Amino acid sequence: MSTTSELTRLREFLNELIPSEDQLVRLYQNFCAQIRKGLGSKTNKDASTKCYLTYVQDFPTGNETGKYLALDLGGSKFRVLLIHLKGDSEAEQITKIYDLTERELHSTGVELFDYIAKCLHEFVCEQKVDNEHMPLGFTFSFPCVQTGLSRATLVRWTKGFNCSDTVGEDIGLMLKAAIARRPGLRIDMVAILNDTTGTQMSCAHRNPSCNIGLIVGTGCNACYTEKVENCERLDSKYKDKPKIIINVEWGAFGEKGGVDHLFTDYDRTVDQNSINRGAQIFEKMVSGMYMGELVRLILLRAVNENLVFAQCKLRKHITDILTKKPHCIETKVLSDIANDRGDDWPLVKDVFKQVFNLNNADPDDCMKFKFICDVVVKRSGNMIGVTLSGLVNKVGESFSVIGVDGTVYRCHPNFDGYMRETLDRFVDKDYKYDMMLSEDGSGRGAALVAAVVHRDYMERKSLNAKLRQ
Ligand code: GLC
Repeated sequence: MSTTSELTRLREFLNELIPSEDQLVRLYQNFCAQIRKGLGSKTNKDASTKCYLTYVQDFPTGNETGKYLALDLGGSKFRVLLIHLKGDSEAEQITKIYDLTERELHSTGVELFDYIAKCLHEFVCEQKVDNEHMPLGFTFSFPCVQTGLSRATLVRWTKGFNCSDTVGEDIGLMLKAAIARRPGLRIDMVAILNDTTGTQMSCAHRNPSCNIGLIVGTGCNACYTEKVENCERLDSKYKDKPKIIINVEWGAFGEKGGVDHLFTDYDRTVDQNSINRGAQIFEKMVSGMYMGELVRLILLRAVNENLVFAQCKLRKHITDILTKKPHCIETKVLSDIANDRGDDWPLVKDVFKQVFNLNNADPDDCMKFKFICDVVVKRSGNMIGVTLSGLVNKVGESFSVIGVDGTVYRCHPNFDGYMRETLDRFVDKDYKYDMMLSEDGSGRGAALVAAVVHRDYMERKSLNAKLRQ
């Protein structure tokens, strides 16, 4: 059994990863200041959270009907969907997942979009809807400056994507051009949206109080409903509708120093080893793409300081693997072992076997490993709870529903609880909130945006016809 002093030493060692109340308060203040800057027309250029206008101003009623196509690009897989909205908040969908290899992630933009158009073509032929000129919503989960619902200029790639000749280009036009290069493919792309917006829309479809969308997956980001009068950058022609969804792009928070007081050497190394140094700082501290890496770096130092595996015969081999194999601990592991509470640690032992080829690990080392993983996940959940509180308070409704999606949130049994710990502390006492798991926000959300755009279009058309009569 570990002595109490050994555990105390490990706790002290991990202390810098356990934010204090004061540190969280500073995080809250810095985040709110960035949001204010992001919304202001003069201050936006200095903001880390750019608060992009999405042009989504119509919300689902639940009565939407019709068939729509959706594309979902933004994580490790690319998906094409056929969605049948049936009214009464009901929907049926068929989804096909296509692999994205390193080749697609690092090709040229034209090659990437040709691949997407090819998959889309195959899909509509398989589903026998190739003759039905359907509206399509495109969930493209990267920071984009939008000038309308279907016009989006890519600002930067995130989450390991790095296709050349794409940043600064209009993603909508690139997709349309790729579709046009395929004879026989007729699709009407009506909207480009972020996965956070899709998540908010898919939850709003079932509960109109949903005014925030959150993703905690490979990347991390949120969007929320803002009053148009608070959006200085919004052209007055869009101000006849009362609200608009803002894509915060909070993954970039910290690029102007807002999280320095929580930034550790481990975070610095993760950033240094990434393909986008200095960018997406908050995201690198909290999201699925990086948490496994943080655990690897922490464990390596803990082993070197004789805090873990001190008596283990394979200690040298474990150090070698941890040093030479970046990403040897996947973030999935952090969720998998979270339920391991028994005396025998079967789930942790399984990870040790896979990663280090270690059999019969010492139960104390298992417990310590679980503790390290938990500290990393808890820091993430607590930090996200703080920034979410900033949005709940900004929305200022007596009751806000937060639509959530993403593998970390879905798979980690304690993640929701870690977020609520800080939400309960930072959300203004006059406001109540709840979390709602999205049903495929990226797919259904895209179909819903396509549907509301279509509804708006049809309404205008019939109004114009009446005016002409
Ligand atoms: C990254 C992207 C953002 C997306 C998030 C979650 O932060 O920049 O657009 O919403 O990942 O997928």
